[in-house]
Amino acid sequence: MFYIDEPWSSEGEGNLRVSVVGMGFVGLTLAVFLASRKIRTIGIETNRSTLDTLRRSQPPFYEKDLEPTLKKVLKSKMLELSDDISDIASTEVTFVCVGTPARADGSMDLAAVTNVAKSIAGMIAKDTERRLVVIKSTVVPTTTDNTIMPILESFSNKKCGKDFDLVVNPEFLREGSAMDDTRKPHLIVMGEAGNSSSKKLRNLYARVYGKQMAKVMITGASTAEMIKYANNSFLATKISFINSIANICKHVPGTDVEQVAEAIGHDPRIGPLFLKAGPGYGGSCFPKDVSALVAFCSKINVDSPLIKATQEVNMRQPYEVTRIVIDRFGGSLEGKKISILGLSFKKDTDDIREAVSLKIIPELLKRGARIRAHDPMATGRVKEIFGDDITYCDSVAGCLDGTDCCVILTEWDEYRKLKPGIFLEHMNTPIVIDARRVLNPQIFEASLEYHAIGRKSKASASR
Ligand code: UGA
Repeated sequence: MFYIDEPWSSEGEGNLRVSVVGMGFVGLTLAVFLASRKIRTIGIETNRSTLDTLRRSQPPFYEKDLEPTLKKVLKSKMLELSDDISDIASTEVTFVCVGTPARADGSMDLAAVTNVAKSIAGMIAKDTERRLVVIKSTVVPTTTDNTIMPILESFSNKKCGKDFDLVVNPEFLREGSAMDDTRKPHLIVMGEAGNSSSKKLRNLYARVYGKQMAKVMITGASTAEMIKYANNSFLATKISFINSIANICKHVPGTDVEQVAEAIGHDPRIGPLFLKAGPGYGGSCFPKDVSALVAFCSKINVDSPLIKATQEVNMRQPYEVTRIVIDRFGGSLEGKKISILGLSFKKDTDDIREAVSLKIIPELLKRGARIRAHDPMATGRVKEIFGDDITYCDSVAGCLDGTDCCVILTEWDEYRKLKPGIFLEHMNTPIVIDARRVLNPQIFEASLEYHAIGRKSKASASR
């Protein structure tokens, strides 16, 4: 392993053409970014409806800055879209960005990656120039060396490191700031498979990033794969750790997890980020990647108690929220009207994959509650799941109307600005459960019944 932080020469890469296979979150953001930096890019997507949406210059999901940039690069033809993978023939670098969803047992489903690898191998067989294949899909350690490389070699009848190059280049972008994170990565990891060289990828990035090029770390392919899992599992562990402290604080009068997190975050060995207690982590990455790592460990007979504990704490955490509601009403929620503020797995996205709202709402419905829900972006997606079982509201005030309890599940900026008045004015009984710690406890406790994750409520102390 070694670092490279020298500026790289982009000479000779001027007409480089790139293909990106898979127009999901990572692939689309990357393709749009490369095209915006004047790299001729072909985006391959086999899902017809996604492709049709993209061809109308519409991203299939919300992401800040993505839509205008997509429009621009499609108009300038720097980005072209296709559903035919053989179109990668005219490109020299192919990024693999297809999904690796979780199977029922938590392990990673590699089917899309292996299918794409077979198609790419068909192109490598005919290539006259040395193609670079870059794996951006998140795959468990050894997948590239033991599965992808053998597929590419056997289906093309060519040799990795001699006739083509294969590099693992994990992605660290976050939903909600995907374009910004792609423009300014904190580190670029390149894991070279076999005798592959990552030089072409370094030169491509030097061209697109110029002086803002991040430090490049060169490793083997399996280490690069492990870096991605370690990165996500560590962040998930930080969250499960602070949620564990929050659950202790909840039972210890006079303690508040927010102050604890702030204080320990000042220790440079800990750092302030990812210490926000809440209803548990969701999204398309942490739950899937932590499960895949646990499944991988069990497959290779390695015990991983810490990672399993991270997962277990997270699976229980949404029920810490429902417990506050259920306890408050003495067990039954029959006939109670509950307003839910926030449905997406975090703010600034309409993504509801593994969102805690999808676990908490059924629990409340099961106990007889009637649910009114609000989210600035995600109600349409949630409607596809709950249909008419819950009421969808366009405004916070409308959502609170006549309800007996309000639960805040996503940290939207709009909710952070709420004052006690709106709850007092619209709710039947103004009881607020702040699962994201977006409100000021001092102000809210003085005006209404306020409960929060990681803080023993004054109301429950006095009851
Ligand atoms: C995560 C990582 O942060 C990215 O670096 C990584 O590239 C990405 O997964 C991926 O593997 O593709 P993302 O899932 O978009 O990104 O969102 P995060 O901001 O990490 O949040 C994940 C979940 O953790 C959310 O539900 C969020 O609310 C929760 N969270 C986050 C907390 O509960 N507390 C915190 O302090 C931080």
